[in-house]
Amino acid sequence: MSDIERTEFQLPSELLAGGRAPDSAVDPGVQPDETDIDQTLRPKSLDDFIGQPKVRQQLDLVLAGARRRSVTPDHILLSGPPGLGKTTMAMIIAQELGSSLRMTSGPALERAGDLAAMLSNLMEGDVLFIDEIHRIARPAEEMLYMAMEDFRIDVIVGKGPGATSIPLEIPPFTLVGATTRAGMLTGPLRDRFGFTAQMEFYDTDDLTRVVNRTASILGVEIRQDAAVEIASRSRGTPRIANRLLRRVRDYADVHAEGRVSLEEAQGALEVFDVDELGLDRLDRAVLSALVKGHGGGPVGVSTLAIAVGEEPGTVEEVCEPYLVRAGLVSRSARGRVATAAAWRHLGLEPPETAAGLH
Ligand SMILES: Nc1ncnc2c1ncn2[C@@H]1O[C@H](COP(=O)(O)OP(=O)(O)O)[C@@H](O)[C@H]1O
Ligand SMILES: [Mg+2]
Repeated sequence: MSDIERTEFQLPSELLAGGRAPDSAVDPGVQPDETDIDQTLRPKSLDDFIGQPKVRQQLDLVLAGARRRSVTPDHILLSGPPGLGKTTMAMIIAQELGSSLRMTSGPALERAGDLAAMLSNLMEGDVLFIDEIHRIARPAEEMLYMAMEDFRIDVIVGKGPGATSIPLEIPPFTLVGATTRAGMLTGPLRDRFGFTAQMEFYDTDDLTRVVNRTASILGVEIRQDAAVEIASRSRGTPRIANRLLRRVRDYADVHAEGRVSLEEAQGALEVFDVDELGLDRLDRAVLSALVKGHGGGPVGVSTLAIAVGEEPGTVEEVCEPYLVRAGLVSRSARGRVATAAAWRHLGLEPPETAAGLH
């Protein structure tokens, strides 16, 4: 029985296929040694949360409205790429409501019973945070529908023909779900969220504020130009900004008695293979295969993947989104094409035909 349920849950293939070098400085995911530091650096209130003005304003209204009417707020979905502050925001929501936060994740809810155990332990007004909610197993997801809508679940007791279903009331709670892939959510689940906050990549100004804030928490003395330099190589992602700052701090400890000026920032980021646009070695290998190996394209992803010795899924899911966002690569029906900016980034003169030249 549980085996059948288990097989229904499968990692999306692109998450299984390779990945960026696990220690890459620009991996947007949380690295094993970072959980504690993430915790220390998390803003604790909406006011302390940098950037995302739209999301902050909307959430402020949702929370204030619920407080005024003395009800639990609508269920909230936080959607966006890794490292932009979804977990942080979930904690802030509970904090702003003065509620307890219970945390779990889609992959941890393999069986409906796992979810039933969480739900039946909730107290009125609690915030239940389900990270990576798009990876929740089907039976648990179906239980969640009823819990979200009617604050009640049916618990199945026993097995086979003798099994009976016992209704169980759940105190009103607010579900906060986070997902990096809103498109993978089923319609019925998506529809049960009263509010979806779409987290966007941060601009360099906001990331500079993130770097300065983190520096002051960690007691790092940093010059403004150095903070801007780190921010502009952080791919729009606070988690990366925080990580680059820590690498820069290590470097400055050795070379400059801990004081970070532009020279230390640039020196450290060179050592850690993060270039001016925030590309790491693999990104540059892909770009270089496209430009130098294939005249700028168009060329298929699988050809590029072979050239850099990676899985096509890795190139497509891990490298390409940022190369496209940075305006270096464009997708066409016939394959990937390097823009004029890509040629220049590699120190080459773009050909007359390069996209974005004029
Ligand atoms: N708006 C922000 N202001 C300051 N720090 C932030 C902000 N968003 C994220 N961070 C920092 O970035 C790190 C990653 O945030 P997190 O909430 O774990 O992202 P996600 O859950 O979206 O992957 C945390 O350590 C947090 O301190
Ligand atoms: Mg998270």
